Amino acid sequence: MDNIEIERLIRISREKPLLPETYIPWKDELQANEYYLPQHLTSLEGTAIYKTLSNKQKLELGRHEIVQVMYSYAWGESLFCLFMNKYILNLAPDNLEYQFLLRELIEEFRHQEMFTQSILRLGGKPITISRAHRFIGAVTTKLLPHDCLFMGSLSIEMVSDRYGNYGKKDLNLYPVLRKVFELHNIEEARHILFTKDMLKKYTTKAGFLRRTVYSYVMLFNIYFLRTLYVKKEIYQRIGIENPDAAYKIASKNYKEKFTQNCLGEIVEFVDSWRGFNGVTRWAWRWLMGAKV
Ligand SMILES: [Fe+2]
Ligand SMILES: [Fe+2]
Repeated sequence: MDNIEIERLIRISREKPLLPETYIPWKDELQANEYYLPQHLTSLEGTAIYKTLSNKQKLELGRHEIVQVMYSYAWGESLFCLFMNKYILNLAPDNLEYQFLLRELIEEFRHQEMFTQSILRLGGKPITISRAHRFIGAVTTKLLPHDCLFMGSLSIEMVSDRYGNYGKKDLNLYPVLRKVFELHNIEEARHILFTKDMLKKYTTKAGFLRRTVYSYVMLFNIYFLRTLYVKKEIYQRIGIENPDAAYKIASKNYKEKFTQNCLGEIVEFVDSWRGFNGVTRWAWRWLMGAKV
């Protein structure tokens, strides 16, 4: 990406900031024909259990699951800010990368606040991250080199971009959430553009070993994000009789949906720098059901 393009991205961020305070119609109430999450993104849609749920239970399933999704993004973004704050300490003010990353940080902090406000607006009670997630998040942010951390952040942004694309187009989605998805989608598109490009300088000269590491970083980030979405407690909350069984069925169902709905561009990206090889391919197939 040349300097003119980076300057253009910085200018858009400065001159057309999307402020959640005014961009989101916070006061709107949910209408009778609206829902909180497009049905095809819920964990149970497509299973036999889903057909037995009442409309109220389906609505509640969507509410709890979108709360979980937004909570996961906010958590992932706060890790991103932690790492990015350290990274920019070494950059000079006249450096364009520094200037862009400052704008990105500002936007990511706004996103975290937007997700938090949305969770509160929905009366949501997210199931917080497990100790394992917390540990892995803290350790990787501390220990991994910055190219890997950029790779990891990009994977999360690409997943959230897919959700954003589905959400912003769905006219029956509760307007507060539709606008949240839309805002996030617009700003993340710029982050993705920048990060993909800056990662090129690492991926083009990466040898077999490094490409293998990058591929696993992408895979594990997406895998961990996905495991934050499907939660047994949600099935208890909406009054499903056997939440253990529902959890098993939903996990399998959601894995397939996630592969269908969210993985396409990620697979393309990993393939573009030859991230699928004899050491990584099996893991992508096994954990993500990816056809690679
Ligand atoms: Fe974000
Ligand atoms: Fe971002």
